[in-house]
Amino acid sequence: MRIHEIDTPALLVDLDAMESNLHRMSAFFRDQPTKLRPHLKNHKVPLLAWKQLEAGAIGMTCATLREAEILVDHGVRSILIANEIAGESKIKWFADLSRHADVMVAVDDQRVVSDIACVARKQGKPLSVLVDINVGLNRCGVQPGESACRLAKSAVEKGLRFRGLMGYEGHLQVLPPSDERDQRVHAVAKSLVDSRVLIEREDIPVEIVSTGGTGTYYVGGAFQGVTEIQAGSYLLMDTLYANRASPFTRTLTLLASVISQPEPHRAVIDCGMKELSAERGLSIVKDIQGVELKALHAEHGLLEVQNPTARLEIGQKIELWVHYSDATVNLHHRMYGVRGGEVEDTFRIEH
Ligand SMILES: Cc1ncc(COP(=O)(O)O)c(C=O)c1O
Repeated sequence: MRIHEIDTPALLVDLDAMESNLHRMSAFFRDQPTKLRPHLKNHKVPLLAWKQLEAGAIGMTCATLREAEILVDHGVRSILIANEIAGESKIKWFADLSRHADVMVAVDDQRVVSDIACVARKQGKPLSVLVDINVGLNRCGVQPGESACRLAKSAVEKGLRFRGLMGYEGHLQVLPPSDERDQRVHAVAKSLVDSRVLIEREDIPVEIVSTGGTGTYYVGGAFQGVTEIQAGSYLLMDTLYANRASPFTRTLTLLASVISQPEPHRAVIDCGMKELSAERGLSIVKDIQGVELKALHAEHGLLEVQNPTARLEIGQKIELWVHYSDATVNLHHRMYGVRGGEVEDTFRIEH
């Protein structure tokens, strides 16, 4: 099938660009003691997770139990849920997944540690946890140092398998690359490794120190004592990251059809916020100068035609660069893998 034969709206991924991103990242980690455990939430496609594993990733990171379940169901055997869980049903779900694969979850709370330990005892099998450290993102996580050490000790005392530490510096991913940013990422990695040393002094082994994203992987990934990086966006990329001078290439576009042009300066496409996330900015139209996306309604996209020579036709198919990939992918059930104008693969997005 050619691209223009695909029914719209549809999510497209440029396979050449994706493969180049895959190889660029795996080349970095090939000779590093630190390894890559990519985040699933960016693409939610098991087939792409397997491409990442085949390219050298040691396992997958994810954000939710459902994502962990998708990975387990597709044969992935080492999974980090880089997020907190709470409540009996969630902990039981986690325990159930742990019967089928090595699944680890982040913790930042004594009570949750006790609750997980309680389920683990009932199940007669230790469950694996990583202590989540707040490295400045101010989302989840305990303070580095003594607080992290205290929670690690408590996990061990309660019979859990304490596997290590994680800290995601999301607040630094959003900054454009600079020496100053690299120094701040360096300081994050150091604070994680300092906490590691503190815990090891208590004779508690620390197998994993996990951090990093697409913007910062090369700093944390080269820091001695960090063992793995959680980057995810690098594979598909989006305009948000491309605007931060990332070396990775954008791959994702939304194919839409022009359905109306009531005035020369206003055209409408069959794609709205049910297909394209606009929370972090509006998409740019690919390869057509002088045509700008101005607004998204639920099922409509409003284009401003600034250049009268850039005539659009009703029925014409156009592509828009995906601005924020995580949230856009989440709106779709499939992604068309395209190369040279042809559809080569169809990837199922799991929910
Ligand atoms: C905890 C965690 N780890 C890793 C990532 C992936 O980072 P990136 O999108 O920069 O590759 C995210 C993304 O939000 C995250 O929340």
